[in-house]
Amino acid sequence: MAGQGITILGATGSVGESTLNVLAAHPHRYQVVALTANRNFSRLAEQCSQHQARYAVISDATQATDLQTALNQLGCKSEVLAGREALSEVVSMDETDVVMAAIVGAAGLEPTLHAVQAGKRLLLANKESMVIAGELFRKAATEHGTTIIPVDSEHNALFQVLPKDFESGLENVGVERLILTASGGPFLHKARHTLADITPDEACNHPNWDMGRKISVDSATLMNKGLEVIEARWLFNARPDQIEVIIHPQSIVHSMVAYRDGSVLAQMGLPDMRTPIAYALAWPQRINAGVEALDLTKQPKLEFYPPDLESFPCLGFAFEVLKAGGSAAVVFNAANEIAVDAFLKERIGFLQIPSVVSAALDRCETGKIENLDEVLEFDRLARDASNRIIHSHIGS
Ligand SMILES: NC(=O)c1ccc[n+]([C@@H]2O[C@H](COP(=O)([O-])OP(=O)(O)OC[C@H]3O[C@@H](n4cnc5c(N)ncnc54)[C@H](OP(=O)(O)O)[C@@H]3O)[C@@H](O)[C@H]2O)c1
Repeated sequence: MAGQGITILGATGSVGESTLNVLAAHPHRYQVVALTANRNFSRLAEQCSQHQARYAVISDATQATDLQTALNQLGCKSEVLAGREALSEVVSMDETDVVMAAIVGAAGLEPTLHAVQAGKRLLLANKESMVIAGELFRKAATEHGTTIIPVDSEHNALFQVLPKDFESGLENVGVERLILTASGGPFLHKARHTLADITPDEACNHPNWDMGRKISVDSATLMNKGLEVIEARWLFNARPDQIEVIIHPQSIVHSMVAYRDGSVLAQMGLPDMRTPIAYALAWPQRINAGVEALDLTKQPKLEFYPPDLESFPCLGFAFEVLKAGGSAAVVFNAANEIAVDAFLKERIGFLQIPSVVSAALDRCETGKIENLDEVLEFDRLARDASNRIIHSHIGS
C-alpha cells in the first residue's frame, strides 16, 4: 500500500471532513483504508469515491443498502461493512496504521479503545471516550505501545509545548500548570438570567469555530472545557490542581504550559482544526495544513479573563468529578449527552442542561471502573437516570 493506511471514524462530521481536506493535499503520504459514518450514507459514498477508500462503513446497518446503491451510482468499488462491530473491525485491520477517532460522544468509545488495543497510532478528537475511560486508555496504551496524539486544539497545543518525556510526571519535567484556554463561546459576558430563552441555533453559532452541533452546545455551556479538563488529566497524567482554565475570546492562543522557572510556553495559530489535525497526522514531522499564516499585527488584541463559574457551572462540576474519580466522569458525560440532545430537540431550555448534569451527579451511584463493560453499564444507568430527570423534574 502506498503511504500510511488511515481509517477515519466519523468521517462525515466536522473533524472528519477537515481531516479529509488535509489528506487530499498529501495524496502520496496517506492511503484511506476505511471511512465511517452513523447514518449519512450519501456523504459517506461521496467521500469514499473521492478518496478511494477500501471500506465504506455505516454504523446504522439499516442504511447499508442505500449506501451500496449510492456507491454503485458513483462507480465506487469500496466494500460496504455495516453495524457497530464493523467499526472495531476496520480499526484493527493490518492495512490500518493510523486511526482518526472523530465520532462524537460515548458512541466512539469501543472502536477508539480497540484501535489502541490493536496498537494503531491514535489521533484522538473524540474527547468523550478519554473522559469516561481515561484509565483504560492509559493502561491499553502502555500495554500495547500505542501513541495517542491529541487532536482537540487545546490538548494538541499542550502536546506541542510539553517536553517529550512528560509521561515521567509533570513535576519531573519542571511543569507547574497546564493552562487550557477557552473562547467562552457565544454567550461570553452574558449574565445567567439572560440565557433562559437561548435557541439551539443561537447556542450553535460559535464565534470562532465551525463545529458539529453537540460540541457547539458544549462550548456555549463551558461543558466542553469541563470535558477537556478531564481529558487533560488522562492525556498528560496531570493532577486536578495542575490544570487551570482561562478565557481567551480570540482563540489564537490554543493553550499554554507554565514551567517552574516562570516561563510560559504557548502554541498559537488561527482557529482552524486543520492545524492540529495536520500536526497529529504528520507527527513528529510537519506538513502543510492549508491554513493561512498567523499575522499577529493584523489580529485584534489578545484578551484573557478568569472563567465565570456562576453563569457556566459545568466547568466547576468537572473539577468535582475529577476529585470524586471512578465512574463520576461517566455520569457527567452521559447526563450531558442526554441533556444536550434534549436541548437540541427543544425539549428543555439552555439553562436546564447544567441542572440535568448536576441532578444526575447527585443521584447516580458511582464506583470503581475496571473494564469496558463496567464503563458501558455505568453509562447506560446514567442515561436512564438523566432521561428520568428530564421527564419527571424538568418537565418535557
Ligand atoms: N468539530 C470540531 O472542531 C472539534 C474540535 C475538537 C474536538 N472535537 C471532538 O471531535 C468529535 C467529533 O466532533 P464533530 O464536531 O466532528 O462532530 P459531528 O460533526 O457531529 O460528526 C460526528 C461524526 O460521528 C458520527 N456519529 C455520530 N453518532 C454516531 C454513532 N452513534 N455511531 C457511530 N458514528 C456516529 C457522525 O456520522 P453521521 O454523519 O452519519 O451522523 C459523524 O461522522 C467530538 O468528540 C468533538 O468533541 C471536535
